[in-house]
Amino acid sequence: MMERVNEILQDPLYRTCLSKIAFFERDRIFCGHDMAHFLDVARLAYLFNLEENLKLEKEEIYTAALLHDVGRFVQYEDGTPHQLASLPLAEKLMDRHGYTEEEKARILRAIENHRNREIRDEKSLTGILYRADKMSRSCFGCKAEKECDWSAEKKNLIIEY
Ligand SMILES: [Fe+2]
Ligand SMILES: [Fe+2]
Repeated sequence: MMERVNEILQDPLYRTCLSKIAFFERDRIFCGHDMAHFLDVARLAYLFNLEENLKLEKEEIYTAALLHDVGRFVQYEDGTPHQLASLPLAEKLMDRHGYTEEEKARILRAIENHRNREIRDEKSLTGILYRADKMSRSCFGCKAEKECDWSAEKKNLIIEY
């Protein structure tokens, strides 16, 4: 059931993207885009899925979470917003590991909108990915909280999950 997620995890293209992100973030004091973040997002989104009884596929949720920031290094390289830069990379990885057109469409839509506040209340993969991504950040324990440009409203200053 989680077979394709684990294949992506070991895919050389995926590992290369993660290494490039880690290189650009080596001195970053703000939130990173690493495996810990992807898994925080996956597990929060899966919790929302259970609590809200959305009955989404676990593998689809984890795939979206693992891939949503995969193009972050492109944003560091040339300024392309990473919700867009991640799309071709995510699509290529899903093609390599046998995702259906329907699965790809749902996952790509969620990735593309993970910074679009307007969809935050959607009861869908797109909605839970947005909320999990924002809630994953532990601002209450962050050394850089004062310097961070997230709005006070967006920052997580109490523990909810
Ligand atoms: Fe992101
Ligand atoms: Fe993220």
